[in-house]
Parts: sequence; structure tokens; C-alpha cells
Amino acid sequence: MSEPIRVLIVDDILETRENLRKLLQFERGIEVVGEAETGAEALRRAASLKPDVVIMDINLPDANGLDVTEELRKRDPTMQVVILSVQEGREYMRRAMKAGAYDYLVKPPPIDELLAAVRGAGQTAHEERARQRETGTFAAARGGEANLGRLIAVYSPRGGTGSTFLAANLGLALKSPDTTVVIADAKLQFGDVALVLNVQPRYTFADLAGAESLDPDLISDVLLPFPRGDVHVLAAPLRPEEAEEISAQTVGEVLQHLKALADYVVVDTASHLGEVTLAVFDAADLVVVPMGQDLPSIRNARVAIETLMGAGIPKEKWVLVLNRAVKRSSITPDRVRNYFKISSVLVIPEDPRVVVSINKGEPLVLAHRNSPASKGVLQLARTVRERLLQMQD
Ligand SMILES: Nc1ncnc2c1ncn2[C@@H]1O[C@H](COP(=O)(O)OP(=O)(O)OP(=O)(O)O)[C@@H](O)[C@H]1O
Ligand SMILES: [Mg+2]
Repeated sequence: MSEPIRVLIVDDILETRENLRKLLQFERGIEVVGEAETGAEALRRAASLKPDVVIMDINLPDANGLDVTEELRKRDPTMQVVILSVQEGREYMRRAMKAGAYDYLVKPPPIDELLAAVRGAGQTAHEERARQRETGTFAAARGGEANLGRLIAVYSPRGGTGSTFLAANLGLALKSPDTTVVIADAKLQFGDVALVLNVQPRYTFADLAGAESLDPDLISDVLLPFPRGDVHVLAAPLRPEEAEEISAQTVGEVLQHLKALADYVVVDTASHLGEVTLAVFDAADLVVVPMGQDLPSIRNARVAIETLMGAGIPKEKWVLVLNRAVKRSSITPDRVRNYFKISSVLVIPEDPRVVVSINKGEPLVLAHRNSPASKGVLQLARTVRERLLQMQD
């Protein structure tokens, strides 16, 4: 048997609520899970009960049912609202639809009309929720707000310096209740962002390669929900040969779409300075460069930055990070600053918890927020936010 349709009744008049309850409660597949008398109570109860369908009066003591409908739908676009109103007429109907209502019935509704509306709304809610579970829909997490659309690339000319660790944890550190974050893996061969974040890569970048045209819906569909912290991931292809099918142009277009969809897009890139990596730099507002505390790593970073500055990526875009730093090294943060003639070089210490967290698939900034490397990543996130704000001015 399929799941019942769970209904919340919102009306300030007790008698109306009772009548609706009586009409619905013996219907097979429909379950009245609660009632509310006011708009505020409706929002509270909807949040805790998560009904599939809300039957909504328009004249509530503290609010207009249409406004409450709009708010409910903003908070959970899968929830469906059937409006019941004493007012008749096209104009009211139009306003109800604009507020996102599923249907509009005039009081008192004929029983068959009411049941048809509740069943239709319930089915829509179930379908949309199933789809949301499947894709963890990104659109739902977004809530339709305007996005900042900033892209931060993490790039190191040398492998193994901590790009993936930083990209994954920086993405999580940038996430707050009112920001949306996508972590994209543009290391198309052997990318391991999904692995590090412990998300099942059911869809990857490769699913976008064959698409005739890219659109926000398609891109939202291939984003994987990261269960804790509610961040989304665009995974690298599962097999290295699939990477060949993804052109630099596709990567550039996908990143532009992601910027339109999210507040922060953090991109892990490959060390190889090829077309794909250049496409990432083109889309990037900032480029974070992790370096190890050894001369070759630092020298390579300088050569890469000089080359890329020559190719038109300005000085303001770079954020240098000395990763896995230890105190006893002769390569001090100050020497690195001097070497780059750049005032800020962030330091993230060597921290044994990093490897443990990667192997467990529990990102460090979530699992050990107070560990030394976590503090470094959180500082990096603050710097990134500040730098992006400065760029806006
Ligand atoms: N601050 C740190 N302290 C301790 N270990 C670290 C730190 N940062 C990174 N590591 C470790 O260094 C190794 C390489 O990190 P990571 O995979 O993030 O590098 P990468 O630049 O993405 O490498 P690749 O070039 O293979 O993509 C990992 O085992 C990680 O655990
Ligand atoms: Mg990596």
C-alpha cells in the first residue's frame, strides 16, 4: 500500500476544522495529522509535522492565508496547499495560484471536489518528495533566493599538497544557514572530492558531457547532496577515459551555470596546466594555492603564478596557503611572504587528524572543528569572504 496523504487543516473556526476532519478522516489513504488556528501556528505545525497537503483558510486572525501559503511553499516547495475561501471569483483564484497554491475551492466545498483536490495535491507532494530524495534537489535547498555566485578555485602546480582536502573543507566552512555551496571536482581524471566527502557518485561531470545543451535543471540534477551540512557536490568522472569526453568549453559553461545557482562554488583543479584548468581560472574570482613547506613546492607555485599573471589573471585573485606547516622548518611563513612579495600567506599546520578524517570520510571541519588544521581552514574561509567583499566594492 502506498503512503497516506498527510493533511494539516488551517482555519480559525473550530467548527470548520471539525467538519473538514470528519469529511476526510474516513477516506482511505488520507490522514489528518494536525490543525492550526493562526498563520503563525500553521507555519510552526507545518515545520514539525511536514504534511503533504495543507488546507488553508484565507481569513486568519493574524495573517492572510495567501501570504502563509507563499511562506510555506518557500520553505518547502514540495508541500502543497489547497485554499478554502468564502470569496468567489477569478481574481482570488489568480492570486491563490500566484502564491503557489495547488487548488482553490469555495467554502463549503462539495465533498467530491475537496477529495479530488486533496488527492491531487497529495500525489504531487509525494512525487516531488520522491524526486527530491533521489537527487537531493538542489533547487529545493536554494529556496529561490538571489545568489552571490562566487567561484573559488583551489589549484596547486604540484600534486599532493592538499588541494582536495582544502577544497572540500573550505566548501563546508563557507556553508551557513543562508548560503548555498557547491563543491565541484574539475580534476577530471582521478578526482576524489566525492570520495573525501563520502558521497556516492551516482552522477558525475561525465553525465554533462553528452548533453545537447546545458541548463540549470540538468545541472541541478547531477549535483549530489552531501548529507551533513547540506552542501552539493559535482563529482569527477568515475573512469579516467571519461574525462577525455569533457571539453574545456563544457567545463567553463558548467561553472558559469553553477555560479548562477549557488553562493559559493569551490572547485578542486588538477595540477596540469591544461585547457580545462585554464577554463576554471577564467571562471574563478579567487584562486587558492596550497604549497608544501619545501622549496620545490614554493618555487613551482611562484612559476605557476607568474605564468598565469602573464596570461591575464591579476594579482588580487591569488590566495596563498602554506599547508602542512611545522614550526621547526627553516621555510617560515615570513620568508614565503617575502619570496612572493605578497602580504598575506595563510598558514595551515600539519595535523594528524587530516589523514584520519579523509580515511574515515568525515570532513575535518565537521568532525574536529577545533583541531589546528580546522582552525586554519576556518581562517581561510574568513579571508576568502573578506577578499570577495573587497572585490565587490
Ligand atoms: N594540513 C595537513 N596536515 C596533515 N596532512 C595533510 C594536511 N593537508 C593535506 N594532508 C594530507 O596530504 C595528502 C594529500 O592531500 P590531498 O589529497 O588533499 O592533496 P591534493 O593536492 O589534492 O593531491 P592530488 O594532487 O593527488 O590531487 C592527504 O593524505 C592528506 O591527508
Ligand atoms: Mg586531489
